[in-house]
Amino acid sequence: MHQIPAFGDDPLQRFTLHEGLGPAVAAFSLPDRLGFGSVFAPVMFRADYRDGSWQPGQFQPYGPISIDPGAKVLHYAQEVFEGQKAYRVGDQPTALFRPAMNWRRLNASAARLCLPPLPETLFLDGVFGVTALNEAFIPGASGQSLYLRPFLFGTESNLGMAASREVSFMVIASPSQAYHAGSMSLLIERAESRVAGGGIGAAKVGGNYACALQSAARCAELGYDLTLWLDPVHRRNIEELSGMNFFAVVDGRLLTPVLTDSILAGITRDSLIQLARAQGLVVEETSIAIDELLGWIETGRCSECFACGTAAIVTPIRELGEAHGTRHDLLQAEGEITALLREELLDIQEGRAADPFGWMVPLPADYQELTDGDLCA
Ligand SMILES: Cc1ncc(COP(=O)(O)O)c(C=O)c1O
Repeated sequence: MHQIPAFGDDPLQRFTLHEGLGPAVAAFSLPDRLGFGSVFAPVMFRADYRDGSWQPGQFQPYGPISIDPGAKVLHYAQEVFEGQKAYRVGDQPTALFRPAMNWRRLNASAARLCLPPLPETLFLDGVFGVTALNEAFIPGASGQSLYLRPFLFGTESNLGMAASREVSFMVIASPSQAYHAGSMSLLIERAESRVAGGGIGAAKVGGNYACALQSAARCAELGYDLTLWLDPVHRRNIEELSGMNFFAVVDGRLLTPVLTDSILAGITRDSLIQLARAQGLVVEETSIAIDELLGWIETGRCSECFACGTAAIVTPIRELGEAHGTRHDLLQAEGEITALLREELLDIQEGRAADPFGWMVPLPADYQELTDGDLCA
C-alpha cells in the first residue's frame, strides 16, 4: 500500500464541518438490504468554484441541495462524475482503490465539458473525508463497499451557450453491494449508438447515460439484462456496455476493445489487463468485430466473455443476442479466466492478497482524525 502525503496545511482552511453532522450520523443506520446506489450515507461534501477559484469546501449532512432553475447543468447538461469504492472487508483498514486515477479521469472529463480542473487535494479531501466521516457505515461482507460518487456541475444561472463560470463539486456515498449478481445476457445494439465519434464517449458525462436509457428499456422488454454498444461510425466493432468495459477469451487469449474516442477508459479494465499479463496471459487491445466474435462463439474459439467496472467488478456474460431474437450462448457461462481475474482483483481490493501494484490507498490518518473529538459540535 502506498501512502497519500498527509495534510500539509491546516485542513480547516480548506474545508469546514457543518454543525449538523453529529446528529445526522447519529440518526443513520444501515438497512438490512443494501442494493446498489439506493441507500445514501449521512455525510456529503460540497465545494464551490466562483470568481475563477475554488472556495473552501464543507462536509454537510446528506440532503437536498437548492439550485437556481436557470443553472446551466439543468439546460445544457454540463456535468461530469466519477464512481469509486472504499473497502473495509473483515478487519482490514479502510482503503480506496487507485483514487488518483479517478481524479485524473474526472479532470479529463471536466476538460471535455469546459468545467474547471479540480486540484488533487480538493478531490482527495472530498473522497477521503466522506469515507472517514461515514466509515462506520462501510458494509464489510465480500463484494460490499462504500460506493463514492464525486461529481462536478455548472451552477451559473444563465441560458447563454457558454461554459458555466460557477461550478459545484460534490461527493456523496452509498453503502452498496455488487451491482450485478450472477451472469448477464446482452443485447447487441445495432439500431442506436451510445455516443458519437469525436463526441463525449471517452468522458464520464451524465448525458451519455441518459442516452443509453432507451436501449436499456428495450433490453428489459426483450428479456436481456444490458446493452452491448458497437462503434458509432460503422456499428461493426464492439465498444462497451453502458457502464462497463468488455472482454472476451478467444483461443486462450484475452481480447478487449482498443480504446477509441467513444469508449470510457475503465480503471477496472486497466487493472485487469495488468493482472492478466502478470498471470502470463496474452492480452490484446484490439478491434473486435461483433460478427467475427459471434462466429468464434459458434465454433467454440471464444469460450467466455465478461464485463468489468467499479460497480460491476467482473461479471460473466452468458449470452449475446439480437433484437430479432437470435441468441448466442457462451460455452462457459461462468468462465474460468473470468473467475480467476475476479478473484484476484477482489482479493487485492478486500485485503486478502498482497498488492504488488500499490493500488490500495489506506485512508490517511489525518482524515480519520476528522471523526475524533467534537469536530461536529
Ligand atoms: C461507460 C462506462 N464504461 C466503463 C466503465 C468502467 O469504468 P471503471 O472500471 O473505471 O469503473 C464505466 C464505469 O465507470 C462506465 O460508465
